[in-house]
Amino acid sequence: MSIQSKVRKITTQVLATMKKNNEKITMLTSYDYSLAKIVDNAGVDVILVGDSAANVMSGYETTLPVTLNQMIYHSNAVVRATKRALVVTDLPFGSYQGNSKEAVTSAIRLMKEAGTHAVKLEGGNEISESILRIISAGIPVMGHLGLTPQSIHKFGTYKVRAKQKQEAEKLLQDAMLLEQLGCFALVVEKIPADLGKQVAQTLKIPVIGIGAGADVDGQVLVLHDMLGITQEFSPRFLRRYHNLDTEIHKAVQNYVSDVRTKNFPNQKEQY
Ligand code: KIV
Repeated sequence: MSIQSKVRKITTQVLATMKKNNEKITMLTSYDYSLAKIVDNAGVDVILVGDSAANVMSGYETTLPVTLNQMIYHSNAVVRATKRALVVTDLPFGSYQGNSKEAVTSAIRLMKEAGTHAVKLEGGNEISESILRIISAGIPVMGHLGLTPQSIHKFGTYKVRAKQKQEAEKLLQDAMLLEQLGCFALVVEKIPADLGKQVAQTLKIPVIGIGAGADVDGQVLVLHDMLGITQEFSPRFLRRYHNLDTEIHKAVQNYVSDVRTKNFPNQKEQY
């Protein structure tokens, strides 16, 4: 038997079962082939081709500028690298807010041209028609509530969302609506831990948190943040598992020094 046939492929149904069995779901972002391959081999359940690509890949301040064509390019590379994880791609800003026809067309392009397994959209009630249409086309949808970075200019800040009762109640209503519409999972970003717990306990679908406390069904982080490649972003919820910024810096400095001092290449490193 080959190794591959022993590997459990993560599907939306597997995630539902994980929630039922109280097994935590792991999710990380990736945007390219090489890192996605490492992330997949390390056993992450869901790889998100996030529109955070705008920040970490292109250096934009917000997620708004990344285009659908760019998300297709990133997703294509990630899907080719992935054997086990479910690959979810963010529908970028401007590719679904206009109307539900535009939304389903964008989602179909992502699935057809990149082979992504599911899409993620930010918002609740206001995008319900688009979500319904995408799901009707056979494309699994992951919701995203709380801090929704595509609406940064509406909120004005990246502070914790839904601290007030009214906004917390709206979030819970939206979460229940997304489940009713048929979303297979929900991301909740930067909300109080108690609310994260309440949403996860109320919904049957998996609730994956980023800055939403420990009592949700899974966690997601941006890969470049948790590896310490990005240094300028330090929210309370971010645990850095490495300091790759420093490691890469040292390695590059060593290379520069070796070339300048004629220490690279050596005898064995040439033909
Ligand atoms: O774009 C992204 O990386 C995301 C995560 C922060 C959930 O949406």
